[in-house]
Formats: sequence, C-alpha cells, structure tokens
Amino acid sequence: MATIWMAASEALPFVKTGGLGDVIGSLPHELVKKGHEVCVVLPLYLPIAKQHHQDFSLELVFQISMKYQDVPVQVWSVFVKDVKFYFIEHQGYFERENIYGYADDGERFAYFQKAVLEMMKHLHCFPDILHAHDWHTGMLPVLCKELYTMDDRYRNIKHVYTIHNLAYQGNFEVDMLDSCLGLGYHIYENGNVRFDTGISFMKAGIVYADKVSTVSPTYAQEILTSQYGERLESVLRLRQEDLVGIINGIDIEEWNPMHDSNLSYHYHKENVTCMKRKNKVMLQKELGLCEDEQVLMVGVVSRLTWQKGLSLLLEGWHQICESPIQLVILGSGEVSLEEQFMRLESENRGKVVFYKGYSEELAHRIYAASDLFLMPSLFEPCGLSQLISMRYGTLPVVRETGGLKDTVQAYNIFEKTGNGFCFTDYHAQSLLQVLQLAIDLYYQNRDDWEMLVQHAMDTDVSFQKSASLYHELYMQLIEK
Ligand code: ADP
Ligand code: GLC
Repeated sequence: MATIWMAASEALPFVKTGGLGDVIGSLPHELVKKGHEVCVVLPLYLPIAKQHHQDFSLELVFQISMKYQDVPVQVWSVFVKDVKFYFIEHQGYFERENIYGYADDGERFAYFQKAVLEMMKHLHCFPDILHAHDWHTGMLPVLCKELYTMDDRYRNIKHVYTIHNLAYQGNFEVDMLDSCLGLGYHIYENGNVRFDTGISFMKAGIVYADKVSTVSPTYAQEILTSQYGERLESVLRLRQEDLVGIINGIDIEEWNPMHDSNLSYHYHKENVTCMKRKNKVMLQKELGLCEDEQVLMVGVVSRLTWQKGLSLLLEGWHQICESPIQLVILGSGEVSLEEQFMRLESENRGKVVFYKGYSEELAHRIYAASDLFLMPSLFEPCGLSQLISMRYGTLPVVRETGGLKDTVQAYNIFEKTGNGFCFTDYHAQSLLQVLQLAIDLYYQNRDDWEMLVQHAMDTDVSFQKSASLYHELYMQLIEK
C-alpha cells in the first residue's frame, strides 16, 4: 500500500465553497479503508483557524523564500478519521475574511505549494503519490520536477493531477515564475506553462503530472473539444493517453436521511413519500412559503454562476409560474443572478423563496424536502448535488452534460427505468418541456413517480467504487 498526499484548497470538515471541499473531505477516508496512508494539506484560512485551532498541534516551523525574502511557514496538524490533515499557516496570505478572490491569489497559492514540498523534507516524510487538485496546486508537479531533480526522495514521487473545473485556470503574469516560484523562464519559453502572454497553473498541472484525471468519464471526453476545453483542449489531447475520468461520490454517512441531524423527520426508502411531505411543511414554515404538503417542491442549492445554467429557469419561469409548484433556491455568487432571484421571490411571494448565502444546514433540509432538484448546467465536470438529491429521494432534473450525464438516467415511460429527468439542448424550452413532464408525472402518475424515487434512492452514490479506480491509478504509477 502507498503513502498518498493530497494538496488542495478546500476539504471538509474544515472548509468548503463547492464540490471540491466535499471530495477532498470524503475520498481520503475511502483510500484509508483500502489500506493507504493518506495526508491532506490545506492552507490555514482564517475561518478554519477561528473554529478549529484549539484542536491542532504544531508540527513544524521553517522558512521558504518568496519574492527574494525568507518568509515563515508554520505547519499544524490533526487527525480526522485516520486521515492526517496538515495546515499551512501564514498570517498575511491566509488570515483574511474570504478564501479566494484576491489580487494576489497566485502568490498565495505559490507560497502554499512551495511550503507543501518543503515540509516533506522537514518532516522526513515523502509520499509515493502526490495528488494535486485544481489550479491552486497545479504547480506542484512542476516545482517538484524542475527544482528537486537532484534529490531522489522527490524524484521518486509520482504525480496525479485532478481537474475539478477547467473553467478556473489560475492564469497569472509571467514574472511570478521567478519572483514567487523560483522557476526559470525557460518553461514559459518552451510553452510548458505558457498561456497567452502569462502562465497557467492549470495548464502546468496538465503538462507535468504523470497522470491527469477529471471527475467524470463524459467530462474527460468533453474537455478534448473546443466547446468545453476552455482553450486547453489541444494540451489535453496531447495528454489523452494519461487522462482518465473518475466519477465522484459523496460521503453517505454525512448525507443520510435516516440520521441527518438537520431534519425534523428522518426517513428511508419505505417511508420517503410520507416523511418528505412532513419535512416539506417544516421547510415551508421556516422559509415563509405557503403550507401545502402536496405541492411539488423544486429545490436548487448552488453556487450562482453562469456554469449552473440557472438563467434557463429565469428565462422560462413565466411559462410555468401558473403550475402548482414551489421553488426554493439557496445560493450566492454573481450579483446579477442574485438580483434576478430576489426579484423572482418578491414577484412570487409564498411560491418562490430565495435564500441568499451559504448554509450547510439549510442545504440538507432543501435536499430532503424537495421533490425535484434542478441542475440545468451549461457544463458540469461531475456535480455532487444530483448525487445528494438522489440519496434523499429527490429526483434530479439535469442537462445531459459531464457528470450529470454519467449519473442521472432519464425516466423512460415504456421501460419503467430512470432515476431522474434529463434534457440535452441548452434552451429554456427544453428545460420547460422536461419540467412539465415531471410535473405531470408527480400529479398524475404516482406509481411511476414513486418508482423513480425508489430507483434514485437505490443508486450507488458512494465513493467506494471510484476510490478503487483511484487506487488502481496510483498502483499503475507506483508499479511502473
Ligand atoms: P460545484 O462544485 O460546481 O459548486 P457540485 O455539485 O459538485 O458543484 O457541489 C456543490 C456542493 O456545494 C454541494 O455539496 C452543495 O450542496 C454545496 N453548496 C452549493 N451552494 C451551497 C450553498 N449556498 N449553501 C450550502 N451548500 C452549498
Ligand atoms: C467542481 C465542479 C463540479 C464537481 C466538483 C467536485 O467544482 O464544478 O462539477 O462536482 O468540482 O469535483
């Protein structure tokens, strides 16, 4: 078995803004169950420090060079369910209100990555596999392979790089190579890390890792095309032999309607219909919706970005607003989407509610109370929300793209198969058509509806199978 280090910008139970946090929170535990030793390295952001610092032990203090000066690194650690989490502390870089969105994000994550590699030396611990996730850690294989080539302990490390979302690339000015990363300009000049006139952390990870993965087989195909490739499709095509798509799973203990402490009524497959109605009424009371246990409730829990395709819903709403449905949206993000949902709520009081913000507790209650969960994404590398909703007996309505295509099977009226509803074209009319089908089924064909709910709850959404695929990927590299 192997020693695996994961480096990422988010992981539960410490920090999460989206699915990356879920994945880095659950995959390591599954790998531990397979006998691996797994560590996760994260930046020590202010919210983590505030909430958890008293549980951490100080492991190391050392210095690295940034912008031609020595800067301190403090490393803290804690065990969670047999996974060791390390936290890199730097007041200036990480003790800020938010975790991303600063002008010096490139410098912050350059510091983080350099610290990850240097701490190995100070700990006298070198992983067999260093598994980096998304642009924040895309320079790890570059740093390792360009700067530590004389040291066998580093040279023996194999690198896996997982793309969770190609749309966020970490593109920065070229001078960062030297000032922040201590790398030579030749890797810009030879094209390895070059993107337009700057550098791309995402591209760097793709070029330098030994294996590249992404979070669903369909997305692994899509990103080879100009439609989804975000201008990295040709680089990805060059790495096609080493590119694999492994679907995400969820933590089925954390997301379990039988034991979910956020719910008033727990349930399982046998009593889902009745208990979902009771949870629905509780949520209607909580959010000020008209109380009606029979009405079809549509839920959305999402980052509000163009990726999620929610503009299709806004565009088509006037055509379904007379239907007997309620709509609950939880999310925050782009101001224009927030404003449009606020307006939708004020024009449809009692029927539509928009909760602007982030709330783990409310998210659980929405998954449990809703009958349908909407994800009309323009693109979706994997998507976890549709998996969570199936676990809660809530039928996903998705656009067939990326991981949504790989995890949701469309209702087939003749064969009586499916675990949700799908549409293909990115048009409001296509979404409306499938929503109408779902509404009709809910009110007029309860047998089929309940059959779909059973199928959804029977779907294996755990990380078990995919953890085996990661295990095989690591083994291929180690045994090479
Ligand atoms: P993405 O990573 O693109 O945001 P995913 O579907 O993979 O999409 O994962 C989203 C995760 O974030 C899910 O666990 C979802 O429940 C959660 N989430 C998104 N927005 C919110 C929010 N406003 N409040 C609570 N949880 C949220
Ligand atoms: C990204 C993607 C999402 C995926 C998540 C975890 O945020 O947008 O589709 O599920 O990463 O891999």
